[in-house]
Amino acid sequence: MDSSFHKQITQVATHLKKKGFPYTIQGFNELDSTNGKAKELALAGVHENTVVVAQIQKKGRGRFERTWESPPGGLYFSLILRPKGPADQMTMIPLIAGLAVTKAIRSLFQLPSMIKWPNDVRIHGKKVAGILLEGETKQDQVHYVIVGVGVNVNNPVEQLPIQLQATATSLIRERGTRVDYGLFFESVLSAFHEEFIRFEQGDVSSLLSSWKTYSDTLGKRVKIKTVSGDIVGEAVDIDCSGFLVVLTDDGEQKIVTSGDCLYVDEL
Ligand code: BTN
Repeated sequence: MDSSFHKQITQVATHLKKKGFPYTIQGFNELDSTNGKAKELALAGVHENTVVVAQIQKKGRGRFERTWESPPGGLYFSLILRPKGPADQMTMIPLIAGLAVTKAIRSLFQLPSMIKWPNDVRIHGKKVAGILLEGETKQDQVHYVIVGVGVNVNNPVEQLPIQLQATATSLIRERGTRVDYGLFFESVLSAFHEEFIRFEQGDVSSLLSSWKTYSDTLGKRVKIKTVSGDIVGEAVDIDCSGFLVVLTDDGEQKIVTSGDCLYVDEL
């Protein structure tokens, strides 16, 4: 049992409660995946806004069946939501999560974090955080959504696998000093809650405009790897569902609902 980790988590929970945020936090020294644990809890009927956080993950999961390296020092958590409303309105949630992490990094550390569609968070062109959404629907209604967030906080980039070292960064690397893990966690959850309220109130246009402020995707030449093939062109907009609008070389506007977004100038 790592008492300093649990002390920090208890402190985060106390602060959030005092400020009126709805989260209940369950902390674990080690899990295979916080998303996996959150799914188990969601299926067992745990209430929404339960947050599962682990000090390390043994089998952290990334998008597209990748693994998410999860050594000590990083922030790994999953938030269980049970949003009311049709499943097709949930496509904004990944963007909300990316925006929340970006805002927390900017407000606490004044670092120029940016969002790569749909929700990679990058600083100086290197990935600092990733988000994995998983969920289940029942008759077009959402049963649960799990928002899994991984951030390289105080874990040294040099300890990540060699193939990630050129493209990944961490907050400690960007700041040059250690980061207050608890304060950062609290700030991400607070920012998420604020953005999520905007979404629930139907204020999608102001959400999108914040997202665009911090996105480094629009205006770039992109290659999106989708299940039905690659789409290459200029990223010109985000629509009201959070989908990427790409202007292809033959002048067609394609709406990309999901895929792995690569910047052509980084290939
Ligand atoms: C990505 O590929 O960019 C998404 C990475 C998401 C990683 C986080 S860490 C917490 C949560 N639990 C997991 O197993 N994955 C997500």
